Amino acid sequence: MGEVDPAFVQELEHRPKQGIIEAEGLPIIDLSILSSSDATPDHSQALEGLVKQVGNACRDWGFFQVINHRVSMEKREKIFNASGKFFAQPLEEKNKIRRDEKRVLGYYDAEHTKNVRDYWKEVFDFTPQNPIIMPASHEPDEKEITKLYNQWPEYFNALPICHDREVSEDYATEMERLAFKLMELIALSLGLQPDRFHGFFKDQTTFIRLNHYPPSPFPHLALGVGRHKDAGGLTILAQDEVGGLEVKRKSDAEWTWVMPTPNSYIINVGDIIQVWSNDAYESVEHRVKVNPEKERFSIPYFFNPGHYTIVKPLEEIVNEQNPAKFRPYNWGKFLANRKRSNFQKLDVENLQIFHFSVSQLAD
Ligand code: OGA
Ligand code: NI
Repeated sequence: MGEVDPAFVQELEHRPKQGIIEAEGLPIIDLSILSSSDATPDHSQALEGLVKQVGNACRDWGFFQVINHRVSMEKREKIFNASGKFFAQPLEEKNKIRRDEKRVLGYYDAEHTKNVRDYWKEVFDFTPQNPIIMPASHEPDEKEITKLYNQWPEYFNALPICHDREVSEDYATEMERLAFKLMELIALSLGLQPDRFHGFFKDQTTFIRLNHYPPSPFPHLALGVGRHKDAGGLTILAQDEVGGLEVKRKSDAEWTWVMPTPNSYIINVGDIIQVWSNDAYESVEHRVKVNPEKERFSIPYFFNPGHYTIVKPLEEIVNEQNPAKFRPYNWGKFLANRKRSNFQKLDVENLQIFHFSVSQLAD
């Protein structure tokens, strides 16, 4: 990983503060009720309670943890093992599938990103739908599309010796099932039909990221991931027992440590849900602190709609009292723009949803 110049890093406005607050109150939501298909009044009352919990968590935190989610523990363990094995490869091997401007999926490490001083991690990205379709460029008048293919490590493909590729794909299937369930609960909590969001995810741009955060000699200065919001629909994160994720608590804007809960998933609403809900559910900032001794692994699943989706506040939600707070934007173009600024290391501000905020129009 890159050399860190402490003097420089001191300037970073988002240095971790000492004495981070414990994860007081990050809601833990039990999904076991979803496993029973009982049509009794008791059941529907319990479901109503669950919907309320999800709605409150989205409104008050933008983040929550779920337990009893029915994602296979075995599949979770397998993908963490596959991830450990992949990152343990020599750099030379990993470089064979290094991402570039054309092949944006695959491997990269912090040393090759612009933010070397505060990103202390290496990453492997793949998409469950292969290929995924994206606009060929971020230019608004560009009609062409392009296909993005996964780059698997050679040994992942060496079946039947190694099943790691299948393991990754199996895990994606589990995640998708949970993602649709959560979108149903979110829809209900907004007073919408449970399947209201499903159509947007017909042709997904969903991707899975294997994250590896090596131990850092400068844990008080460097971050694994700097503060950011997730741009897509919904994120489902699996973290190991080391922990390091911090969420900006809405009630007092303090950075809050998310204590690892065994076999739980951390859910957060992304920018797209913020726009769909017309700000009812805000996408919340988060970051990752590195650890001085222990390496850490995490696996976010970014559930994203089709590239052609025009993201805008839902018509059922906006009315005279609650006018649309965002102008419509094309998700694929938004994503292409983000990718472009990441790769070309442009010194431009990342495109953000507030650029589409209606109040921005006034000036
Ligand atoms: C991300 C992210 C958190 C983590 O990749 O967007 O927020 O704990 N990751 O790795
Ligand atoms: Ni994130």
